[in-house]
Amino acid sequence: MLLHTIDDVRRARKEWKGLTVGLVPTMGALHAGHLSLIKKAKETCDKVIVSVFVNPIQFGPSEDFDKYPRTIEKDYELCKDAGVDIVFAPSPKEMYGEGQRLSNDTLTYVCPPFFYVNKLCGKTRTGHFDGVCTVVLKLFNIAQPDYAFFGQKDAQQAVIIRKMVKDLNIPVEIIQCPIVREESGLALSSRNKYLSEDGKKDALVLSRILNNIKACYSKGITDISALKETAYSYLTDRHDLEYLEILDKNTLEEQEKANNDSIALIACRVENVRLIDNIYLGE
Ligand code: PAF
Repeated sequence: MLLHTIDDVRRARKEWKGLTVGLVPTMGALHAGHLSLIKKAKETCDKVIVSVFVNPIQFGPSEDFDKYPRTIEKDYELCKDAGVDIVFAPSPKEMYGEGQRLSNDTLTYVCPPFFYVNKLCGKTRTGHFDGVCTVVLKLFNIAQPDYAFFGQKDAQQAVIIRKMVKDLNIPVEIIQCPIVREESGLALSSRNKYLSEDGKKDALVLSRILNNIKACYSKGITDISALKETAYSYLTDRHDLEYLEILDKNTLEEQEKANNDSIALIACRVENVRLIDNIYLGE
């Protein structure tokens, strides 16, 4: 069922008394990564809702909101084939009302703590995680899921959403699913669509750097600067590295030495497309 209004979702949701409901929040342009979340949701829950909403308030003014791929017909077909019960695809007007400026002057926002936001992607994407938490909480309130499914690819997002759920006592269990990669190692992302064939090859550097860090850690190197330094031989003038960090995977805290709770995270621009990836060192 493809639904566009909050009322319709609420009405359908009410019929599911006593059943467990899973929500997979997405911005559409669904790929195998999203399908793995949907599969997990189907295994875990009686009913599954997928939201498809390119959320304007999580994009900065110079980001790709306008050109972000919108493929709702294809997304709906994929969801139907995967056995999704409801695809919720609201308009910005349905989510945020009409005629009001989308800012925290006029709208109630959820602002995750500075400690979690002032690093990694949050450093350059000011306000991004406020926009993410705000829309995710709205989607939770609309769909009232028991479980919600997020990918490890957006590791900082997943940590911040867990923190929001804990701090605000939201009765939703967050399930995180592993990154899905192309055979080449490239982490799947809707933004890979912006890359040329050459760009896709250059983008392999992200996973190569992360795999190499993990290999070095497995050999016993725990010094974080030494691990990070192994990256530089991979980078060329076609790579614009934004960050490479090794942090605690649960808290995003800095560590004295890498350990089995460490995560290595990278953001790098290739052909001016901002790509992110990460790897757990301990698994
Ligand atoms: O990860 C995403 O696709 C988005 O940030 C999310 C969680 C759907 C919120 O818009």
